[in-house]
Amino acid sequence: MELKAAALVSALLCLALSRGALSQRARAPIVETPAPAPAPRHVELAELLSLAGPYGKFLEYLTKTDVIKTFQSQANDTKQGITVFAPQDSAFAALNETVLSNLTADQLRSLMLHHAMPRYYQLSAFSALAAASPVSMFAYKVNVTYAAGTIGVVSGWATAKLASSVYSTSPVAVYALNRVLLPKEIFPAAPEMAPVPAPAPAPGRGGKAMADAPGASERAASDNAGAKSSSCRVVGAGSLVLGYVVLVVSGFLMV
Ligand SMILES: *[C@@H]1O[C@H](CO)[C@@H](O)[C@H](O)[C@H]1NC(C)=O
Ligand SMILES: *[C@@H]1O[C@H](CO)[C@@H](O)[C@H](O)[C@H]1NC(C)=O
Ligand SMILES: *[C@@H]1O[C@H](CO)[C@@H](O)[C@H](O)[C@H]1NC(C)=O
Ligand SMILES: *[C@@H]1O[C@H](CO)[C@@H](O)[C@H](O)[C@H]1NC(C)=O
Repeated sequence: MELKAAALVSALLCLALSRGALSQRARAPIVETPAPAPAPRHVELAELLSLAGPYGKFLEYLTKTDVIKTFQSQANDTKQGITVFAPQDSAFAALNETVLSNLTADQLRSLMLHHAMPRYYQLSAFSALAAASPVSMFAYKVNVTYAAGTIGVVSGWATAKLASSVYSTSPVAVYALNRVLLPKEIFPAAPEMAPVPAPAPAPGRGGKAMADAPGASERAASDNAGAKSSSCRVVGAGSLVLGYVVLVVSGFLMV
């Protein structure tokens, strides 16, 4: 009888302890503003792009040209960081298929390097980037435009619009573009477009249109943080239930 009581007390104690640990774990990721943390989370760009939505073509070219390694090592550099402009799959579909297949390996590599800046820029930095344009990418330069909250990235034959913020927490930003950038250094003449206009980007994470105010996508980013924290909560609850079952079983054994 005493043993049974002791088991019950220890079960309740452990339950209370794990509940405390759980609420701590659930609370941690809910951070309203991504303040510059001393130890930033490691971001795996290939994983981010493959999970985030319609960036499969871009990721395919980054991998084929090995540019993904250049970008990843810059993403690992937490002092400078990186800002990646990821054209959606529909942007690649809008080009005549020979436009990219005609390029040499070096040209294709340069084209991919033309889709990121070797520094982290949050959305609120884009009006300053527009004023400072042209600005340098890993290869060549672009003009950033900023009018009424709409951000454009202009390069040679392409006027791309920043369609959404896929991820933005220092040192890594990934923004979606509705066009592939087409610098004149690689394309001396206007490249041929596909005959039929590409269908609208498929709905889904990262495919949603950005509202006029940059604040809207900051909200979207914190929505993502919310999604992550709720998955943490599920994991926490799972271990809580498991811990409870173990305690109940060990209580039986003691009796
Ligand atoms: C980036 O950092 C991760 C984790 O520290 C490491 O595993 C990976 O090899 C690094 N990648 C590059 C390209 O530096
Ligand atoms: C792509 O461009 C080539 C060369 O101009 C042309 O012959 C071909 O018909 C185009 N393909 C499509 C699908 O438009
Ligand atoms: C691609 O190369 C083929 C063969 O050299 C050529 O006929 C075609 O016009 C080129 N396409 C484009 C879009 O430059
Ligand atoms: C940027 O804008 C300037 C001035 O309009 C223009 O001369 C230059 O070609 C543009 N650069 C790019 C990369 O489009």
